[in-house]
Amino acid sequence: MFTYATRTTTTRTTTTRTTTTTKRASLFCLRKYISFEGARKREESSSRASFSGRMAALEDEDVDANHHNNNNNTTTTTNTTAKKNKKDAEKKKGPTPAPKHTRKYGTPMTGYQLEHGAKLMAEDSPFASLNLKEAMKSGAAKGVRCRQHVNPLSQKFSAPSRTPDWAAIFKEPVKPMTIDVGCGGGRFPLAMAQRFRERNFLGVDVREALVERGEKWGEFAEVSENVAFAAGNCTVSLKPWLDDYNENNRDEKRRGKVELVCVQFPDPHFKRKHWKRRVVQKQMVDALASGLEEGARVFLQSDVKEVAEDMRDKFEKFGNGKFVVDESLHGNEEVIFEADAPDVSDWEGEEHEGFVPTWYEKGWLKENPLGIPTEREVQTTNEGQPCFRVMLVRT
Ligand SMILES: C[S@@+](CC[C@H](N)C(=O)[O-])C[C@H]1O[C@@H](n2cnc3c(N)ncnc32)[C@H](O)[C@@H]1O
Repeated sequence: MFTYATRTTTTRTTTTRTTTTTKRASLFCLRKYISFEGARKREESSSRASFSGRMAALEDEDVDANHHNNNNNTTTTTNTTAKKNKKDAEKKKGPTPAPKHTRKYGTPMTGYQLEHGAKLMAEDSPFASLNLKEAMKSGAAKGVRCRQHVNPLSQKFSAPSRTPDWAAIFKEPVKPMTIDVGCGGGRFPLAMAQRFRERNFLGVDVREALVERGEKWGEFAEVSENVAFAAGNCTVSLKPWLDDYNENNRDEKRRGKVELVCVQFPDPHFKRKHWKRRVVQKQMVDALASGLEEGARVFLQSDVKEVAEDMRDKFEKFGNGKFVVDESLHGNEEVIFEADAPDVSDWEGEEHEGFVPTWYEKGWLKENPLGIPTEREVQTTNEGQPCFRVMLVRT
């Protein structure tokens, strides 16, 4: 298992966060809680577009091209005359100069996107060693064009995706594997692969364009031996993938164990009617309970408290006693902050009856014990917002 990053870790990333945490101590956590509640409510009440904007920033240049196209179509049908008048006026004026930073498909990035994208690429970013700025400049991997959000319940994603060819995607499949569920831009598995050469990392995302770019970035950063990306809906794909992985794992020399599964900052799907789109569902908990071996870890984190609670409580509720909170971390009072008792009145249906959550008593981890953040995590900590983290162990 990983040696968790501790207060004595000397990497730049961890040191920065450690210093911050140490200075502000527990009062900081309390403040973060309070300010977070306000931020969450603001976020919930603000338009979806605002949240989407923040999400878009994560992929540097991702654009919901369809969304823009749809908007244009609506304008065309509802306001044809106005558009014609505008066109005539533009003809008279001559061509409008292209806005700065316009990508070839014509959508300028917002200031916020530019700023966050630049931060992820900056020299003091935790991902600087991947040299992705050079990858972008050299044309080895450009920005991607994909929807900001996809509906994992749509027909396209309802069936499990093709199982990766384990022997083909990793040079040495015998190494222990980490799966990053919903890896987004993929910097986390890439940076982990660079730091932990003796381990394999699989980034999975439902958005194919990100997966393809992740592969290219992996080649550019020269980590493709121990990192790979796969496209798929993790809610439905993990079960067959793990079954296949384990089946081919009889000869221990051929496949490493799955030692860690991370679900980090999953799409929150705030509206109750969309909760079923969240990636962690009973189906995924079942898949991990049956597919992981004793001692494997599951790391959950989110900047949205209710989403972190939802993931944690689902593992407690549906894990059938096969998971526990990792006492080696949560047992240390210094590394946790207090969690509220979750509001189970939101849980509907017979399957929840009689469920009394207890894991919240183990608190949230103050820091990411893996020592490498995700893209969203960088954004969250840069904004001074808290993250809610739990480490679980398969018993
Ligand atoms: C908010 S982003 C977080 C990305 C990354 N984990 C991070 O922390 O920066 C959530 C990601 O999960 C992906 N995703 C959503 N539902 C998924 C599913 N059912 N299976 C796999 N990926 C999914 C989205 O496409 C998106 O890239």
